[in-house]
Amino acid sequence: MRKRLLVPLAFVVAIGGLAVVAASGHEKVIVAHRGASGYLPEHTIAGYAMAYGMGADFIEPDLMLTKDGVPIALHDRTLESTTDVADVFPGRARDDGRYYAIDFTLEEIKRLAVLERFNRDTGVPTFPARFPSARDGALVLRVPTLVEVIELVQGLNASTGRSVGIYPETKSSVWHQEQGLDFERIVMGVLAEYGYTTKDDLVIVQSFESDSLLRLRELGSELFLVQLIGGGDAYAPMVTPEGMDQIAGYADGIGPSMTRIIDGDGNWVNDNFLVREAHARGLQVHPYTMRADVLPGYVGSFEELLELFLFEAGVDGVFTDHTDLAVRFLRERE
Ligand code: G3P
Ligand code: CA
Repeated sequence: MRKRLLVPLAFVVAIGGLAVVAASGHEKVIVAHRGASGYLPEHTIAGYAMAYGMGADFIEPDLMLTKDGVPIALHDRTLESTTDVADVFPGRARDDGRYYAIDFTLEEIKRLAVLERFNRDTGVPTFPARFPSARDGALVLRVPTLVEVIELVQGLNASTGRSVGIYPETKSSVWHQEQGLDFERIVMGVLAEYGYTTKDDLVIVQSFESDSLLRLRELGSELFLVQLIGGGDAYAPMVTPEGMDQIAGYADGIGPSMTRIIDGDGNWVNDNFLVREAHARGLQVHPYTMRADVLPGYVGSFEELLELFLFEAGVDGVFTDHTDLAVRFLRERE
């Protein structure tokens, strides 16, 4: 039994005038983390389509840039943990043995097969019970571009009549700038091309790097922005009244690690400080990452985890690898 405390009711009252509306009509949003990553390799068109079909409100692509400056859906700076790059391009690793996406053109990256995430040293899958990627080329999934993700989601919105959004994350922003690529300008340009320019549009841009979100504002972006807050010490200054004030100056929401709200032992962190303080400043709260197959020790089921965050902590949405289970939970709960 977890040791958490009961949260006073005042902490869980939803704030009014929320800018984000769930496609499902629920008050809470379900974000398909890296697609339907609990079932198909992360960041693939197949996975995004599956998540869409499962009822996601937002589809999440992490973004990196290719050598020729094209935004692609990829979590890591490097390609070797989720593709067959080492087989296709032997000799193209840097001295550290890693294959950086930014060293490859889009045409080259499109020759790679996306595989279920694995440990690059041992070859062992990160989530052994998930999709059994084979390396024999019988089923080939490709690394998608941001444009392809948008075309998929907007096309499905047209054919289904639903209003599903995208929730791109600018990964390694400062690093991209150091490589001479104006990441935020490029991403903003693609989004604008597809009609995503204001907070009313179905897009939320997220980043762990405040510099990335500030850069978007500097470029005149009026998009809905979410500041991600990791669990490490580097993010501790954000989890203070002053830090929250700063975030509210440029962002519309926060995406904290779950451990910023409930610690690993199941205790509320500072009496639900983060949710309380975020809501007091009009910020939405979307914690990451709810995984049905990797539960924290303080809950006995995925549904218990969702209940705890969505209704006891009072967050406004969650990132999850298992969209179908989260959507079912909300449908039955609301
Ligand atoms: O963006 C929210 C969550 O996805 C952050 O973690 O590492 O999966 O991008 P990561
Ligand atoms: Ca992410």
